[in-house]
Amino acid sequence: MSKKLLIGTGVALSLIFSPFSQAFAVDQTVGERKQVENVAHRGATGYAPENTIAAFDLAVDMKADYIEIDVQRSKDGKLVLIHDTTVDRTTDGTGKVGDLTFEQLRSLDAGSWKGEQFVGELILTFEEILDRYHGKIGILIELKAPELYPGIEEQVAEVLKERNLDKPQNEKIIIQSFNFESVKRVDQLLPQVPVGVLTSNRADTTFEALQEFSTYADWFNPSYGIVTEELVNQVHSQGMQIGSWTVRSQEAADFLLEMGVDAIISDYPDYVDPRN
Ligand code: G3P
Ligand code: CA
Repeated sequence: MSKKLLIGTGVALSLIFSPFSQAFAVDQTVGERKQVENVAHRGATGYAPENTIAAFDLAVDMKADYIEIDVQRSKDGKLVLIHDTTVDRTTDGTGKVGDLTFEQLRSLDAGSWKGEQFVGELILTFEEILDRYHGKIGILIELKAPELYPGIEEQVAEVLKERNLDKPQNEKIIIQSFNFESVKRVDQLLPQVPVGVLTSNRADTTFEALQEFSTYADWFNPSYGIVTEELVNQVHSQGMQIGSWTVRSQEAADFLLEMGVDAIISDYPDYVDPRN
């Protein structure tokens, strides 16, 4: 059974047998709006330093549905959370992530660049974040520049399997990357975990391209500048969901809500759902 069919069957069964199935059926909208997954981009990055406990805790407090994290690897093989491939922008250090040991990365201050109140925030490990947040909030895992870290897909898969997070009942784990070969590899290693392709390239939005993505991906996640209602419909017609990024204004959030996307990846979870 294919991954999509398996997951779909599980969802369908749980809905059929749920006493709330009728309520669910009529509660698909909030007011006039479709419900969307509210994804806190690198945590609640508008308010706290990205990829840190401060930003992730705030996302939980703000009742986001997911945190998005960027995973890379230290020189000595630890999976770490950081967006850029160097530490220069978001820490008090310099150098490439992959050239520094975990001890060196961990000694850096990953908070003070964002404000004095964040002094002492640390670069985190992938394992720490899974253990701290799984079950509290969904986790959208981005493999960042996986071409720099051969075998990172296997390593991530192993960590998830050790925690039994590779099953359909894993609730809310999704893995995505701009590197499509990496996404395909993850799909092979973790056939029951939803995967997504990231792009900001219009060439990836053709019918043919979407059809190809749909052979392995569950999510098609474009930058919001290339989103149209037609694209949303095409993605849906290929059996995928669509999540878009990076929202940093109320207007951008409203636009994506209007387009009918399934997830909005935002630095400001409150722009996506003002109730938060
Ligand atoms: O989740 C989408 C988004 O994170 C992709 O862009 O550069 O912020 O990692 P970036
Ligand atoms: Ca990211």
